[in-house]
Amino acid sequence: MATIYDVAVLVGSLRKASITRKAAHALIAAAPPALRCRIVEIDLPLYNEDHEAAPPEGWVRFRREMAGADAVLFATPEYNRSLPGNLKNAVDVGSRPYGNSIWNGKPGAIVSISPGKIGGMGANMALRQTLVFVNVPVMQQPEAYIGGAAELFGDDGAVKNADTAKFLTAYMAAFAAWVAKLAPGHA
Ligand code: FNR
Repeated sequence: MATIYDVAVLVGSLRKASITRKAAHALIAAAPPALRCRIVEIDLPLYNEDHEAAPPEGWVRFRREMAGADAVLFATPEYNRSLPGNLKNAVDVGSRPYGNSIWNGKPGAIVSISPGKIGGMGANMALRQTLVFVNVPVMQQPEAYIGGAAELFGDDGAVKNADTAKFLTAYMAAFAAWVAKLAPGHA
């Protein structure tokens, strides 16, 4: 039987009408059957090591939902040429307590999304830098910087532009191959 991989999808925007969330739905819809994708919510209290003795419920829930994932797909907007604080906070929360990181060895991929022309490249690269340290092997090619995104996505995963739809399908196929190669326990 073909292996199915559980993929946690993190959306780096908290707002209701988020373009990034729409793009995440489009990525999930474009995934091949080998990837079972689910959004893991990241509206978490800020990381503070003092709270590890009695971790906030949100941290506990996030760590539990991430622990079972074989891989992680990041969909991020760009804030001031970097990743949004809430997404960096989620990486921090998942990386502790020391020695119990939920990231270690999980294959990942980053898609940055922006209504602007540069497609969130600064956010993409900043997140990539952090993921090196927490040992998430991030797919290198294809890269995904989705610009002009305000016009591209419907609410439900619909993609309004055929070239973008084609790109997302190819991207998720490449990610499936990356996950199959690297997911812990599935070698
Ligand atoms: C932005 N935005 C933005 N866009 C961009 O391409 N590069 C940037 O550096 C920034 N910086 C930035 C900072 C802050 C604080 C905000 C609120 C916004 C615009 C951003 O791409 C736009 O608001 C998106 O719609 C945000 O993504 P969601 O929430 O639609 O997913």
